[in-house]
Amino acid sequence: MDRRMRVSAALIFMTIFIPIASFVPGTDGPVSRQDALEGGSTSLYCDSTPDTINDELMLLVWYKDNVPIYSFDARIGIEWSSASFNTSNRLRADVGQQPTKLVISDLRGDDQALYHCRVDFLQAPTRNIGVNLTVIVLPSQPFFLDELGNKVENKIGPYHEGDTLVLSCLVIGGRPPPRITWYSGEDLVDASDGISDIPSVRENELYLPLTRDNAQSLSCRASNTHLTPPVITALEIELYLSAYNVSIHWVRGTYGDVLQAGKPAVARCIAHGSYPPPDVLWWLDNKHLTQHSNQSVNNSSQTAISYLELTPSVIDNGATLACIATNTVMAPGRDSKADVVVLNVTYSPIVEIIKEGDGRLNEVLELDQLHLTCDTKANPPVENYIWYFNDIEIRPNSIWGTETNNQALIIEEADRKHAGRYSCSASNSVGETRSEFISIIVYYPPECISSGISLIKETLKCNVRGLPEPDTFFWHIQPSDEEMQHLTTGSPILPLSQITGTLSHTIDASCEAGNGIASQEKPCKKVFTLEQLRPPQPQQCDLAYEYKEFQMRCVPVENATHYEVSVWRMSTSNASLFLERRGAMGFGVSQALAQGGGVPWLVRGPLGTLKIGDEVGASACNRYGCSVALLLRPTENLLHAAGAPWWKFLLDRDVGISVGAIVLVVVFITSTTLLVRLIRRSRSKPPAPVIQVLQLDDVARDYLDTIGEHKVHASHSLRSCSSGYSDGSGESAPTVDRRRKPRTIWEYDPPPPDVTLTLHRESAV
Ligand SMILES: *[C@@H]1O[C@H](CO)[C@@H](O)[C@H](O)[C@H]1NC(C)=O
Ligand SMILES: *[C@@H]1O[C@H](CO)[C@@H](O)[C@H](O)[C@H]1NC(C)=O
Ligand SMILES: *[C@@H]1O[C@H](CO)[C@@H](O)[C@H](O)[C@H]1NC(C)=O
Ligand SMILES: *[C@@H]1O[C@H](CO)[C@@H](O)[C@H](O)[C@H]1NC(C)=O
Ligand SMILES: *[C@@H]1O[C@H](CO)[C@@H](O)[C@H](O)[C@H]1NC(C)=O
Ligand SMILES: *[C@@H]1O[C@H](CO)[C@@H](O)[C@H](O)[C@H]1NC(C)=O
Ligand SMILES: *[C@@H]1O[C@H](CO)[C@@H](O)[C@H](O)[C@H]1NC(C)=O
Ligand SMILES: *[C@@H]1O[C@H](CO)[C@@H](O)[C@H](O)[C@H]1NC(C)=O
Repeated sequence: MDRRMRVSAALIFMTIFIPIASFVPGTDGPVSRQDALEGGSTSLYCDSTPDTINDELMLLVWYKDNVPIYSFDARIGIEWSSASFNTSNRLRADVGQQPTKLVISDLRGDDQALYHCRVDFLQAPTRNIGVNLTVIVLPSQPFFLDELGNKVENKIGPYHEGDTLVLSCLVIGGRPPPRITWYSGEDLVDASDGISDIPSVRENELYLPLTRDNAQSLSCRASNTHLTPPVITALEIELYLSAYNVSIHWVRGTYGDVLQAGKPAVARCIAHGSYPPPDVLWWLDNKHLTQHSNQSVNNSSQTAISYLELTPSVIDNGATLACIATNTVMAPGRDSKADVVVLNVTYSPIVEIIKEGDGRLNEVLELDQLHLTCDTKANPPVENYIWYFNDIEIRPNSIWGTETNNQALIIEEADRKHAGRYSCSASNSVGETRSEFISIIVYYPPECISSGISLIKETLKCNVRGLPEPDTFFWHIQPSDEEMQHLTTGSPILPLSQITGTLSHTIDASCEAGNGIASQEKPCKKVFTLEQLRPPQPQQCDLAYEYKEFQMRCVPVENATHYEVSVWRMSTSNASLFLERRGAMGFGVSQALAQGGGVPWLVRGPLGTLKIGDEVGASACNRYGCSVALLLRPTENLLHAAGAPWWKFLLDRDVGISVGAIVLVVVFITSTTLLVRLIRRSRSKPPAPVIQVLQLDDVARDYLDTIGEHKVHASHSLRSCSSGYSDGSGESAPTVDRRRKPRTIWEYDPPPPDVTLTLHRESAV
């Protein structure tokens, strides 16, 4: 009760003592400026400490625009506050501390005023301190209007890079009037704000050429105080962008960036910054690779990733691998970005062997240079070469010289030993490859081998060796005592038939071959006797007495072109044989007989008369001379039979005719009766087989009859048919005698002086 009395007493005192005079800033006291946000609180300070110790505070009063809103009477310790700061408790004072503090909370716009405090002391004069309080009202959230005045929500677009964005940012209210600014991220892009047509609305119209960077995080800020951060509205701009950064990296199957042929590798291509996500395509040189790529997209980081599995081949070395990110919504030309890498594909060498120089691929002349090159293609380059000859490694210091591990194998003077199969192998860090082989042929001129010239049957063979095979042969043949003959053949064989003249002695032969490479250095030479080509000695001969003279009859021998007979007579004076005559022996029967069933035919030679002790020789001859003679001696029976018979007179002309007529009549009668009997008999029973030898002359028939019982005894004579002996008989071949009586060709030759005869002979027949 007492206290309440005192308060009212103070109020009365105040109203009495405080003159109603306004506070004049500066004059009445200092004024400080103070800002505070609407809805916030602020503290007004007033120094109420006395200047001297003796003095003391009596009264503290706060005024708002000269209207008291709070007082404290220190003498009685009573506080008072005005109704305008009523029980909402927006006003609180703390007088216990210095300077005293008056806190106004829940600030409103009309709290903005000039406040001051008045401090009364016991002794000291009244003190006034002013505070100019500004209550800041924040503006509204900024919003956007496009050129047509349509409100834009927080997203706009799409635009292409470089388009100009025209957009207004508006703000309603705010005290003091706010500044409206456009920011891209933290960068101010437009501060040109101003008032709008609408009251209490401010705006900032933006003209912004859009780029990848400034369109990222565009916002509009409104601010009218530092006490609080600006009011911000962000705007999302849909901007079509091509990728700005495309890159290829190898992720598998490479060493560093080096690939290996045939080995799969995986490349990754990352495309950054394309909106909307790009198509990522792979190209290898001009080839679009579609098979082995897949693509994934990360929208938030604007990256597209594509993987390519590539198995490079040798030809891909040096090729360009490109990864192209294309934004399909954009115009061609600005839509894509690419990264390229050049492939380094390593591979084991590719090897081919080449013969350098002229001529055919694999041929070289003896003594010419043989130059082989190991032609390689390799990545990385070849480190080592190895050469092979017939599949055996060529080592240095052999017939190939010392340089056997180079790319080239050079033999300065090739010879036959160098002919064979060559191959080379090359190696690098990837591997080793061996080439196909090349067969090198070393050509050389013809040269004689072994005997040089050999006689085979009736041919001469030139035995030469040469590469290529000799194809022309020049012969120089000199039969003894004759002219040299020059012949050319296309094969190493020279038939003796091509040589003219007699060949009964020796021939001096030489041959020289040519193979188109070089001529033969030394001809092959040889001297031949052709004795072995003479016919064999007749073996089946006999003596007969026919047609009034002795005949030598022989079964012909092979390879004889003619025959000779010789008659050797026992000398009456000195018991030695001398050549009485020599003659040709003709064919006894026709050639047709020979063909008629293989029946042997005979050659016969007329001998004239023979005496006891004579010997008769038969030899077979051809152009190479005559065989050794078969010697026969007439038997006594034969000589006796040849003697003049009793009926010799019949051979007189007249007698002969009469006897012949009688004989003919007798023969006719006898044969007729025989024929009649034969016909009768043949009626009753079949005729017995009769062997008839047709077209056989009497001699042959006789021979055939007797040949079974009397074996012809050949006498092997030691006498040779010497060279001079057969001279002159070779010039004419004996003719076949088709008449019943063989033609007699007698040619008498004087016996050779050097022929000596021995008596030791076996006689035949
Ligand atoms: C306090 O003041 C407000 C206006 O400032 C008024 O509406 C309210 O009625 C007052 N309250 C009291 C208890 O005076
Ligand atoms: C108080 O501040 C306002 C602006 O906030 C100003 O216009 C006014 O002149 C100031 N008054 C004094 C007395 O300084
Ligand atoms: C591509 O972009 C990525 C991420 O932005 C960056 O790390 C890389 O260095 C860029 N590459 C090039 C070549 O610009
Ligand atoms: C794409 O290919 C890579 C490599 O082959 C593989 O690792 C990845 O999982 C694949 N991605 C998709 C989305 O198939
Ligand atoms: C990425 O964005 C594209 C287009 O903007 C959309 O079609 C696609 O579904 C999105 N992908 C993911 C994984 O969000
Ligand atoms: C390719 O890689 C090989 C092996 O590393 C190297 O020796 C060679 O020089 C490279 N080639 C190119 C063209 O880079
Ligand atoms: C006959 O000559 C040929 C060819 O020269 C030969 O084969 C044959 O042996 C010769 N016959 C005889 C018996 O000498
Ligand atoms: C032997 O006599 C013949 C003539 O009867 C004669 O030609 C020959 O020279 C003689 N021979 C010898 C060795 O006297």
